[in-house]
Formats: sequence, structure tokens, C-alpha cells
Amino acid sequence: MVDHRRRRPRERGLGLAPRRLARRGPRRRGRRRPGDAAAPVAGHAGRRRRERGRRRPRRRPRYRLVRTAAGERSHLSALRLRPPRRRGSSARPARRQGARRRALDARWPRCPPAAAGAWAAAPRDHRRLPHGALDARPRGCPARARLAGGASQPRTLDGPRGRRHAGVGGRQVRLGALRERRVAGAAGSGPLARRRRVGAGHGVSAGGIGDVGATGGNAPAGPVARALPRLLALLAPYRAQVVGVSLLIAVSSAVAQLAPQFARYVLDVAIPAGDLRIFGVLALVLVAYYVIREALEYAGMFVSFAFTQRVVDDVRRSTYAHLLTLPLARFTRERSGSLVSRVVADVNALEAMIQAGASRIVGQLFSIGVVLALMFAMHWPLALVAVLVVVAMSAVTMAFQEPLRRLARAVRAKVGDMTAVATEAIGHIATVKGFTAEAQESGRFGGESRSYRRLNLERRRHLGLMQGGIGLAGGLGAGAILVIGGIAVSGAAGDALATLPGPELTVGVLVAFLLYLGQLMGPVVFVLNFNNQLQAGVAALERLDELITRPSEPSGERALPEGTELVMQGVRFRYPEAERPALDGFDLTVPAGGTVALVGASGGGKSTVTRLVQRLYDPEAGRIALGGVDLRDLDLRALRRAIAIVPQEPTVFSGSVLENVRYGSPEAVEADVLRALTLAGAATFVGELPQGVHTEVGERGVKLSGGQRQRLAIARALLRGARVLVLDEATSHLDAEAEAVVQEALAGRLAEGSVTMLVIAHRLATVREADAIAVVEGGRVVERGDHATLIARGGRYARLHMLQHRGLADGRYGAAQDGDEPAG
Ligand SMILES: Nc1ncnc2c1ncn2[C@@H]1O[C@H](COP(=O)(O)OP(=O)(O)O)[C@@H](O)[C@H]1O
Ligand SMILES: [Mg+2]
Repeated sequence: MVDHRRRRPRERGLGLAPRRLARRGPRRRGRRRPGDAAAPVAGHAGRRRRERGRRRPRRRPRYRLVRTAAGERSHLSALRLRPPRRRGSSARPARRQGARRRALDARWPRCPPAAAGAWAAAPRDHRRLPHGALDARPRGCPARARLAGGASQPRTLDGPRGRRHAGVGGRQVRLGALRERRVAGAAGSGPLARRRRVGAGHGVSAGGIGDVGATGGNAPAGPVARALPRLLALLAPYRAQVVGVSLLIAVSSAVAQLAPQFARYVLDVAIPAGDLRIFGVLALVLVAYYVIREALEYAGMFVSFAFTQRVVDDVRRSTYAHLLTLPLARFTRERSGSLVSRVVADVNALEAMIQAGASRIVGQLFSIGVVLALMFAMHWPLALVAVLVVVAMSAVTMAFQEPLRRLARAVRAKVGDMTAVATEAIGHIATVKGFTAEAQESGRFGGESRSYRRLNLERRRHLGLMQGGIGLAGGLGAGAILVIGGIAVSGAAGDALATLPGPELTVGVLVAFLLYLGQLMGPVVFVLNFNNQLQAGVAALERLDELITRPSEPSGERALPEGTELVMQGVRFRYPEAERPALDGFDLTVPAGGTVALVGASGGGKSTVTRLVQRLYDPEAGRIALGGVDLRDLDLRALRRAIAIVPQEPTVFSGSVLENVRYGSPEAVEADVLRALTLAGAATFVGELPQGVHTEVGERGVKLSGGQRQRLAIARALLRGARVLVLDEATSHLDAEAEAVVQEALAGRLAEGSVTMLVIAHRLATVREADAIAVVEGGRVVERGDHATLIARGGRYARLHMLQHRGLADGRYGAAQDGDEPAG
């Protein structure tokens, strides 16, 4: 009847791990005392060994499965295995063990959900732990210092490890989500799928659970009560659709529950009547019934899927759109891979929850209700037996929920590790080959792959045990009903059963009853697992919320003024994560239409000026004004249109030269692009490309040289017709001749008289002709004047100049770049 029993894998060969777990994990934790970590004091080796043996076994457990989250039972108790026992003190009575555990509980209360979530998100050093280790903390409470972060913000965990793992997590999620979708798809709906659900349901939910670990790494395992309102809030805008889909699915489930009644009718009515006409009518009814049932099933599945896709698509698009409007600081704080994973993988984790939650759960609950009602209506004493079976199944499912959740998360994390190792090596394949590190890299990958295999096997084992337990409960229940019912129907017990309460039992009722019991199993398991899925989805949702509720970059409202004079007064600015300010007391004025050059040693703060001018950041103190208006008062989009930056590392997108130059000015026609290319001195090399401006430049412009990329970036800035042009060492990649071309081009553009230029340069020759030159050091302007004045003054500029000239004369210009300038 419940066919998952047949799929139950053979477990016998692997039997011991849980006991090992039972012995190790909690004891290790339980025995830890403040003094434990200290090295043993002097004494002979034998005593030390005994000490060690008694206090804390050295060997690492093979599997450490015991990190529990808030208020959840530990893996061990969930498995109902032997309670933790101390080696060497086995005589300790269980009672005292319990007392000790209670004392520990009191001293170290179980984690609140947020804390557990943060722990889950904490980076794991997989290399330290054998088999990738379900690195766990039995009490549910990790070292407290690590719990500072919020539940849904792995990034709040300090330190480079945390960040590194966030990225890895990002990748692993995507894979996980893919797999989950596959499993969910396989579970599907329809008659076959309905039968499959018992087993597949677990697969789905386990996948979902995995997502928790991978996406957020941190599903706070809170009660459904906490998760449901969030789900409802998400679906609120789609109220009508939710109701429609749910109705359709409920009707479809109700119709599906009619089937056993046909069996009952045949056994109790048609067969005794022995009338051919009855069978004829029945055949027609059955054909109609199954056609309608499958049509409803199909419609329900399709409509719910379409609905889910729509919700998820909306969430994904709006999250991404919002993500792009967040302040730059938000992007530098979190690795791009992790941010991307929020939009892609976390949204996919939502998909599973919505698919299950919004569409199926209603149908499943409805099915349970209908089936139980029918059972009670047919024969209530037997129905009570069925209820007992459901309770037993629930108990089995609950017992395995926690270990399965952990294992799924660990498996997912391992997929991420594997991906990370492979991606890194393939991304740097030239270096790998250059250092003949192929074997080393495949060794690393092999290690991860092995851990993955072990973890996956362990998960399968638990799944198998759980399915076996469920099968056992269902089978024993069915058996009991069969035997008791059989005795009652046959009258084998004579009058003994006649005194039992309840209506008369017929063969038909008994058979229908057994069929209903089978129909009950799938929905029950589905509902039991829904909590997991809900938690997984809500964890993802919380991570998304963290982005969605964050404010976009602030914008002023004033339109762009006429003038383009750029003034910075007493500007102080510190990067969000930096300790010292990058600019402090920075004063600079670039007159409208004028050209000012910034020179000085690396790290002085020149590029920072370009970021502030674009208002990618706001200064802490002081003021930056364009045409007399504070940047904070200006409309942000207008400001950024007015200022074109050619950054130090020019950005080139995959696509053609034309598309690249037109980036930011989509309305420009090809003739404009050609003019901009000519002004930027790029026309010659573009003309020599195989397809001219239509040549593809490759990802990140790999098919171009550094100098060519810069010229494209200059052309792009010129095309935008910006009124302020900022070149950040834009000529540092160009040779002297090309530099001259660019200078002329820029001069030609300047002749139109409307562009204010801020040029940052290493090569002092480039900026010789600037109206004014400012030497930037330690975040402020230390010298200012035109070339002749500054040389005559014999200060910092003159020294820089001398160094570069000497370098040129020695034929080692490169070494004479300002990085060599002695500090102070
Ligand atoms: N995103 C950042 N976060 C923290 N510190 C930064 C960041 N970017 C630059 N800095 C620091 O700010 C200082 C000025 O950097 P930058 O403006 O790039 O110098 P320059 O362009 O003159 O070489 C340096 O000390 C640098 O380390
Ligand atoms: Mg710089």
C-alpha cells in the first residue's frame, strides 16, 4: 500500500555511525570545562593519558552531527539512540547524566533562533574537520562570540574567513537550488506523483532544508507561527490567485478521494447483485471519473506552477532592480558572488516554498481532512486506528527532521566547496599550468568530492531509516486494520467482537478503508515536512528583505546649474571599513572650463576624489559643489550624467566596440560613436579590427590591449557629452605617442569651451599644460600652481619631476613612477 517501503535502501552495512555520534558529540561538549583547554601539568605520561582519556577523548568523531538549533532536540535524542556515555566512567548512573545535562542546560541555555542561525551561517573550516564534518555544537550554542551577527546576515561575521565562505555559499546555493527544483519537479503531481510523494516529499524538503544552509546558512528553526506571517505577507498582493489556485487544488484532491468508494461499491453492491448492467454503467462512470480527475490534476499542477513562477519572477526582478540602486558601500562590503546569490539562489529557494506552500499545502490538508472524514463516516473505530498510524508516522518524521536538515545543509555546503575549488582552479588555469599544480588541484578537488560522497551516503542512510520507520508504522497500521477488520467481517471470533462498538463492517468497507489509509500517507508526510520547507524559504526571504528594505542611494532634487565650477572645501572622508580617512581637509577648485591635474604618490587619495565627485560616497565633513550647488542637493541622475569618469581600470563589457562606446548613451548614432572614437584617438585601431566598430571585444574586453581599452573608455566618456570630465590616470597604459594623440584630442574637445577637466596622472608630462596642478599627499593638497611655478618653487612637485626625468634618463621610467617617491 505505501510503496515507499519498497524503495527503502539497504542500510545494514552502515549501522554504527549513529552510536558513534551518540557517544562522542555530546560528551565532548558536555565534559568541557574551563580548565580543559590548558595543557596538563607536570606528571608522568600515563597519568596524563588517563586524564585525557577521562576528560576529553582526543580522536575526532567520525561524524559530528550534534549542532542543534534553538529548542530543537539534538540529533541523538531525535534518533532515540543510546544517551551519551562517558568512556571510562560507564558506571555513572543515567540519572546523574540527566542531572548533569540539566545543569548544563541551565548554565548554557539553548540558543535563541537568531543565534542558532548565525552559528549556522558561520564559516566552517572544512579542511580541519574530517569528512567535511557536520561541525556541530551539541548544545545548540556555539562559542558566543560568533553569535553576534544577525540570523540572516552571514556577512556580519567578522574576518576574512566569514567573507570567503559567504561567496562559496553563494555558489553552492545555486547548485542546490537547481537540484531542489529538479526534485520538486520530479515529485510533481498526478497519480504517479501522488504515490511518489511519500518518498520524494522528503527529498524535496531535504533540498529545501539544504537551501537554508546554503543561502542563508542560517534558517532560524523557529516555529511555523513565525514563518507563516512572512509567507502570507509575500503572497498578499496575489490574494485572488492564491484563492483560485487553492480552490482548484482542493477540488482536485477531493475528487481524487472518491476512488476507493468505487471498490466499496463493487464489493458490497455490484458483486452481490451480479447484474451486468450495473457493471456497464460503472465502466462508463469510471472512464468519466478518471478523465476528469486527471484533467483537474493537470490543471491544478499547471496553474500552481505558473502562479509560483510569476511570484518568483516578480520578486527576482524587483530585488535585482533595487540591488542596483543601493549605495556603493553595500557592494564593497559583500562579495559580489554572495550578492548575486541573493538575487538568484535565494529567490530560487523561495520558489520551492511557494510552490509547496501556496499551492500544494492547501490541497494536502484538504485531502487529509476529506479522507479522515470519510474514514470516520465509514467506520469510526477503525478510523481511530488510522489516526494512531498517522501519529506514529508523525513521530518518526519528526525524529528525523533535525538530522536530515543538518545533513542536507552539509551536503549543500560541500557542493559549494567543490564548486569553489574547481572554479578557482579553472579560472586561474594558466597559473595552475605554469606552476605544474595540476595534481595538487585535482587532489584538493578529490578531497572535497570524497567528503561529499560520505555526507551524501550518510544522508541517504538517514532518509532510508526514516522511510523505513514510516513504512513500518503504515504497514503495521494496515496490518492491524486488516486483521481486526478481517476478524470482524468473518465473524471468526464469534460473539467476542460483536460487543465492540461501531457500525457493521462489510468487505467493501474494509477494502475501501485500507485504500484510504494508503491515500492518507502521502499528504500526511507532505504536511509534516512543510515546516522544513517553510523555514528554508523564510530564511531566503529574510536575506532578500535585508536587501529590499535597505534604502537606495539618496538623491537631491535640484536640477543641474548652469555653471560647472567644481569646488571641494575642507572635505574629510573615510571609507566605511577603513580606519583612517582617505581625505582630510581636502581643498580644490576647478574653474568652469578649466583643467586641473592631480598628481602625487599612490594612496594619496586622488581616485577617492573622483568617487566623491560622482557622489558614490558622501563626505563626512566639508562640502563639494558643482556650479555652486552642493552635490547632496542635486538630482543624482542629473549629476552623474553631467560627470563622465574614465576610471583607472576602464570597464569594458562583452559586446561590440559600438555597444561599449554607446554604453550610457543608448540614443547615440553610429556617426557620433565614430566621432568620439576619433577624438579619443581610437579610430585607427578600431578601423583595423576585423569588423570595425562591430567587432566583439570579448568578456571584459580581453581581446583588447590595456591602452585600447582605455581609449574606448575615453570615447565613451566623450560621447556622453558630459560637462565635467574626470580622467583617472587614464593615460597610464598608453605610450608617449598615443598619449600625445589623446592630449590633442582632449584639447580639441576642450576648445569647445564647455568642459571642466580633472586629470589624474602619473606621468607629469601629460599634465604639464594643465591650468593648475595640485600635488595630493596624505588626503590633502599640499602644493598647487602651474608647472612653471611649481618647478620654480622647488617643492614636492619639483622633486617628483626630477625623479621622473632621472628615471627616463636612466631608461627605467617605470621604476620612477610615483610609487617610488619617498614618503614624508
Ligand atoms: N574601497 C576602499 N575601502 C577602504 N579604503 C580604501 C578604498 N579605496 C581606497 N582606499 C584607501 O584610501 C586611500 C586613498 O586611495 P586612492 O584614492 O585610491 O589613492 P590614489 O588614487 O591617490 O592612489 C588609500 O590609503 C587606500 O588604501
Ligand atoms: Mg588611484
